[in-house]
Amino acid sequence: MQGNTWIHFTTLLSLNECMSRIAFIFPQNEALGEKIISATGSEKGRWLMRKFPDQETYVRVLSEVMGKDALIISTLIHPDEKILPLYFLASQLKKMGAISVSLLAPYLCYMRQDKEFNTGEAITSGFFGKLVSSCFDSLLTVDPHLHRWRSLEEIYSIPAKELHAAPLLAEWISRNLKSPLLIGPDRESEQWVSSVAKIVGASYVVLEKQRLGDKRVSILLPAMENLRDKTPVIIDDIISSGHTMLEVIKKLKEEKINAPVILCVHPVFSEAACAELERSAGKGKVISCNTIPHSSNQIDVSPLFAQAFVLNE
Ligand code: R5P
Repeated sequence: MQGNTWIHFTTLLSLNECMSRIAFIFPQNEALGEKIISATGSEKGRWLMRKFPDQETYVRVLSEVMGKDALIISTLIHPDEKILPLYFLASQLKKMGAISVSLLAPYLCYMRQDKEFNTGEAITSGFFGKLVSSCFDSLLTVDPHLHRWRSLEEIYSIPAKELHAAPLLAEWISRNLKSPLLIGPDRESEQWVSSVAKIVGASYVVLEKQRLGDKRVSILLPAMENLRDKTPVIIDDIISSGHTMLEVIKKLKEEKINAPVILCVHPVFSEAACAELERSAGKGKVISCNTIPHSSNQIDVSPLFAQAFVLNE
């Protein structure tokens, strides 16, 4: 988080310290949402949402929000179906007198289309940033996929703060694995792998990846020697189709390197990605943070949100 944005964010969430904080949990965010509520000492907001028979969305806020800082907790997996209900809830909270409405999105979607690769392609990360900035007063998220965009400030006009899961990934590795060798599957992953490696005190290697299509990647494995006693740990921010990880696992197998553990921050897991990965890597070898609810969740990110609020008070 840089200079001004931090100041704005601080202003937004702490100058109202005499006011209270009320958090509204979006459906499918209950487990992490409850943890964030208790870790941040927020009141739990009561509200209703349902579909009319014609599939339009009905929203009703039941809690008193006048003079309070409202938080909406919603991870942004499958965002297209969420954005309109989020807009309705945020608008209603403002209409009912909430001082501010902040979005807590443990996973921030639409970050990967950050360039016009072919003429006429929409840079959806930018458009999505504009849309969210028009509905919310601030954004708090975990490890957004910043690649060509260097910071959220470039695409969000509201204060937008990133939390980092690296210390939590490092703690999980230290508790569970002996002699880890960390592997980043592509250049973008270096930011996560290098931070985790530094905390764990392990070495890391970053591979060369070429994306050939939505579900096709090629990976170049450099010469990796003396790995017989090491546990390879492949770390990425997102697993989506799983093909990046599958390709790395295949390459490690070809080189007869020990079976790896797969670690990610955001288990997006489209279609049968996790099952396929577990078939290839082995059951229980795929571990994720709970930024998106999934059976592979073993790392709880709620302490990051608690720290963010403590820092702001
Ligand atoms: C891309 O740069 C990300 O860091 C991940 O490597 C990517 O999103 C993984 O996608 P998939 O699982 O579809 O290969």
